[in-house]
Amino acid sequence: MENLKQKAAEEAVKYIESGMVVGLGTGSTVYYALLKISELIKAGKLVNIVGIPSSGKTEKLATELEIPLTDFMKHKSIDITIDGADEVDKYLNLIKGGGGALLREKVLAQASKRLIIIVDESKVSSKLGEKWAVPVEVIKFAYPLEMEFIKSLAGKPQLRMYENLNEPVLTDEGNYIIDANFGVIKNPFELAAKLENRAGIVEHGIFINLTSEVIVAYKDGVKKIKKK
Ligand code: A5P
Repeated sequence: MENLKQKAAEEAVKYIESGMVVGLGTGSTVYYALLKISELIKAGKLVNIVGIPSSGKTEKLATELEIPLTDFMKHKSIDITIDGADEVDKYLNLIKGGGGALLREKVLAQASKRLIIIVDESKVSSKLGEKWAVPVEVIKFAYPLEMEFIKSLAGKPQLRMYENLNEPVLTDEGNYIIDANFGVIKNPFELAAKLENRAGIVEHGIFINLTSEVIVAYKDGVKKIKKK
């Protein structure tokens, strides 16, 4: 699987050109993209690249790899963002947020001229929700109410906890995450709208109409799925 992640990541990095502002996603697949970008910078093959990281984790990693970073004060638009996903359907809609960075990731996605998603074949599904619950970022104050709200939408909510601590996971923005299992999602647009209309919910991990292309690494080769 690691090998597939690396193949998808390295394929995506081919689209980065010198001088670009690059959105840096989060996760174990993006990790390989960061390695490749760093290698190309060090070899002098990519120059004047600046990255905008989507999480504290990516910021730390990119700094260690000597990828120059910038922010939205200096750049209001991103040329290409490379990010992973937890689930991808054939319309290039996504579930994201397994790594807890969905809020900043969506901010990067909406600021990007081109969003390239990199996944291995295990992430592709015919309908969103087949494999993954929807991560919902909520403010701490409201989380018991948001758990009830998710139940009212026929979802099964679970507050995300740190593995070895009896404490809720905190996002980079200091919020909680509820993993909301809706099963197979019949209408992602409708569900997304309901979640967006609710006070206390900051953002959710359904990414609709944001992806330009998905690079999928299958065991027998890398395929690019473009938006129709
Ligand atoms: C981070 O919040 C997520 O949206 C990631 O993009 C997603 O979880 C993919 O991560 P992996 O590449 O580690 O599977």
